[in-house]
Amino acid sequence: MAQYDVIVIGAGPGGYVAAIRCAQLGLKTACVEGRETLGGTCLNVGCIPSKALLHASHQLHEAEHNFAKMGLKGAAPKVDWKQMLAYKDDVIGQNTKGIEFLFKKNKVDWLKGWGAIPEAGKVKVGDEVHEAKNIIIATGSVPASVPGAEVEVDEKIVVTSTGALELGKIPKKMVVIGAGVIGLEMGSVYSRLGTEVEVIEFLDAITPGMDAEVQKTFQRMLSKQGLKFTMGAAVSKVETKGGKATVSYKLRKDDSEHSTDADVVLCATGRAPYTDGLGLEALGVKLTKRGQIETDGHWQTAVKGVYAIGDAIEGPMLAHKAEDEGMACAEVIAGKAGHVNYEVIPGVIYTHPEVATVGKTEQQLKEEGRAYKVGKFSFMGNGRAKAVFAGEGFVKLIVDKETDRVLGCHIIGPSAGDLIHEICVAMEFGASAEDVALTCHAHPTFSEAVREAALACGDGAIHA
Ligand code: NAI
Repeated sequence: MAQYDVIVIGAGPGGYVAAIRCAQLGLKTACVEGRETLGGTCLNVGCIPSKALLHASHQLHEAEHNFAKMGLKGAAPKVDWKQMLAYKDDVIGQNTKGIEFLFKKNKVDWLKGWGAIPEAGKVKVGDEVHEAKNIIIATGSVPASVPGAEVEVDEKIVVTSTGALELGKIPKKMVVIGAGVIGLEMGSVYSRLGTEVEVIEFLDAITPGMDAEVQKTFQRMLSKQGLKFTMGAAVSKVETKGGKATVSYKLRKDDSEHSTDADVVLCATGRAPYTDGLGLEALGVKLTKRGQIETDGHWQTAVKGVYAIGDAIEGPMLAHKAEDEGMACAEVIAGKAGHVNYEVIPGVIYTHPEVATVGKTEQQLKEEGRAYKVGKFSFMGNGRAKAVFAGEGFVKLIVDKETDRVLGCHIIGPSAGDLIHEICVAMEFGASAEDVALTCHAHPTFSEAVREAALACGDGAIHA
């Protein structure tokens, strides 16, 4: 039986980051992971593989739609699906092996197997019980079932994001249930590869919670790319027969019943915290109604010395939120002042164009009754964007009406996922739009559009 200062359960971006930071802070650390490879959902069946397929399919889109315009003539590439999956698997392998290397480098022990907590201070992995002064639960999440619907996932015809990353062949028709992040990213991949994609969404707008203008522009752009949207529709049943599926749904506006057929159905209606088999109830760890582990302001659960982070607790289910909590929780355990600023957690959708958001939306500020100004700039006025066929979309900066302090930013356009971080830093420093506007931005870059949006909060953008 080994004795540790910290045992982290789960090696996703929350868990592996927590383990590495604990070790860096001088704590004897182990990380329990039952999967064959480290990196959790993110590296194995989430963020990273989906980005590989988004990249590959975007290259095809460029070849089919934009190469000839630039004088690059020739037959468009043919898709070798097996090779594309092999490329994706290679990307996964490089990343998961990278974490193994980091564990070795930082002297984090990988305890292979699924962990349980028989009592505070003890972690059971297989038949072995290890002692740990502190335990961090970072067990992540799993795809949630489609609420209120009869759906049986087989990961072949009716799939979650996991199955969608390794389909046997490119389907002719795919129905995506849920116009959230997963549905739109994976829907984009298959649409670009030639699949007819129909997205069925319960609400009247895509990407719930996002800025309303972004939602509208985004849906319009995706529709132009060929995705079909059926909005305000609650899926009630998915039946499979003879290798095909039929999706039944009811339109909320008039309760009329409809159905549509598909070769593959992707269920993308959210994720649920995963805490099965840990023995939390017997241990006395409290859960919320939604099954999330309850923690205090320092990620400690109701049981002293047992902490929890990431998708398993409250908050947005995002890898980078889990990473931040992992680092902060490690610092708290090491006696330092770990902190996460939940007001500045960006969200990105890696479609084309990308969508990125941080801070408050106009809708939220209206509800709060806070006076604000908006500075908006279209990528049409950005020379670099026009040069790469990315003139559609905009940067929308929201600032306090009185103080000019940046409160939020919503971007749809080229490299939005990278551009947003300038605003994240500005928000962390309590910057005003004027601070951003007075910062010299290199020309020609997409980032000039962010500066122009900041200028639009004051005396006006130059290229608008
Ligand atoms: P989501 O919560 O983003 O979207 C689910 C959608 O399904 C919602 O629009 C909802 O209204 C709709 N829906 C629910 N029940 C329905 C029904 N019966 N019929 C029709 N529509 C229905 O969930 P998603 O896309 O599954 O993602 C899960 C989590 O993973 C999210 O927290 C997301 O942030 C995270 N994620 C983040 C990524 C990123 O940061 N790029 C990539 C992939 C996932």
